[in-house]
Amino acid sequence: MASIVLRNVDKIYAGGVKAVNGLNLDIKDGEFMVLVGPSGCGKSTALRMVAGLEDISGGEIIIGDRVVNHLPPKDRDIAMVFQNYALYPHMTVEENLAFGLKLRKMPKADIAKRVQEAAKMLGLEQYLKRKPAALSGGQRQRVAMGRAIVREPQAFLMDEPLSNLDAKLRVSMRASLNTLHERLGVTTVYVTHDQVEAMTLGDRVCVLRDGLLQQVDTPQNLFDNPVNLFVAGFMGSPSMNFVNAELVRDDGGAAVAFAGYKLPVPESTFAEKPGLDAYLGKKIILGVRPSDFEDATAANGHSAGWARIPTRAEVTEELGSEINVLFLIDAPPVEHKDTVAAQDTGDDEEAALPLVGDKSLWTARVNARSHVRPGQNIELVVDTQNLHFFDSDSGLAIGHPANVGN
Ligand SMILES: Nc1ncnc2c1ncn2[C@@H]1O[C@H](COP(=O)(O)OP(=O)(O)O)[C@@H](O)[C@H]1O
Ligand SMILES: [Mg+2]
Repeated sequence: MASIVLRNVDKIYAGGVKAVNGLNLDIKDGEFMVLVGPSGCGKSTALRMVAGLEDISGGEIIIGDRVVNHLPPKDRDIAMVFQNYALYPHMTVEENLAFGLKLRKMPKADIAKRVQEAAKMLGLEQYLKRKPAALSGGQRQRVAMGRAIVREPQAFLMDEPLSNLDAKLRVSMRASLNTLHERLGVTTVYVTHDQVEAMTLGDRVCVLRDGLLQQVDTPQNLFDNPVNLFVAGFMGSPSMNFVNAELVRDDGGAAVAFAGYKLPVPESTFAEKPGLDAYLGKKIILGVRPSDFEDATAANGHSAGWARIPTRAEVTEELGSEINVLFLIDAPPVEHKDTVAAQDTGDDEEAALPLVGDKSLWTARVNARSHVRPGQNIELVVDTQNLHFFDSDSGLAIGHPANVGN
């Protein structure tokens, strides 16, 4: 096992595309690090440079205690797993698993032992004599993982390994990957464009955009304290709601005003976010997570002191354990390059509803005990302890430790 360090790593492709721009990343020994971001942000390029499949245009990559910039892939002691698990079709599962070790001239008994162990770990024991054509997609992907595992490398590098699997299988494979990582403890760098996958798998998650590192943190910290509008909008599903608002202070204390609503801003928020008070009397962009809403009638008392937002449910999405309530607020959608970019993730299932005039569509995630139906009035309450404030020009989160002093 080994740590992996990227120091000011650049990649400029022939033709001048800067796919990775000054990337700094410290991946600890045994850590599960996820690289996430929209398609084309440089995730695969970064991973391929660690693997040695792509030259580095600038900077340094260190695996363990060796600078590997000029080391060929086979000498880096890493194993890659790709989206397209290329298994050898004419070989059995057992032979597929053993193939790489045979090439390395490992003694037969050792090979057999490693193959058995990997097959057991991955639940492939009963399929060892089968050929890939007789396996399901999930089983084939497990064989591909198995080929990486038997090598007992210093690190696993995985590029969207679950993308070809259907949704249900992806969820169960994620769980297997988590268990596997707990058991083996091998340093893993995992690339995905799917923020849910990133949140569920990563010890830490590195968010990339246009080749630039945005934020690297634990999933919970990314969710609670996004550094800018882009990370705020990209991480979390459904996405954070945004609106142009004004921060005010009057007799009733500090508040944030937008679309005819005025939500109190607790004094503790000003203590938590240094510099926020300088925005009093000014425009900011307000962000509210769908999960920080509740239906007042289904709130069970945990929402005492939350601010009220009376509105009308346009659409409800019943998810069983929760309900997403889509409602309109009387303010135009925020037009900031970062909110647009975060929405533009290509294959997101949540297609945007057509907007009515200059209103914005917001989402509240409420308790399934809510009896709200489309077209009905609903009194939402919102947890004002968790409001997010962004600078309208820079898009940076106001008072975030990484932004304070900049
Ligand atoms: N071989 C290549 N030659 C030129 N440009 C490339 C090549 N591979 C990727 N790119 C460009 O580099 C950027 C990052 O690509 P990539 O690392 O594949 O992104 P991701 O994996 O995040 O989708 C994109 O703009 C892509 O078009
Ligand atoms: Mg890619």
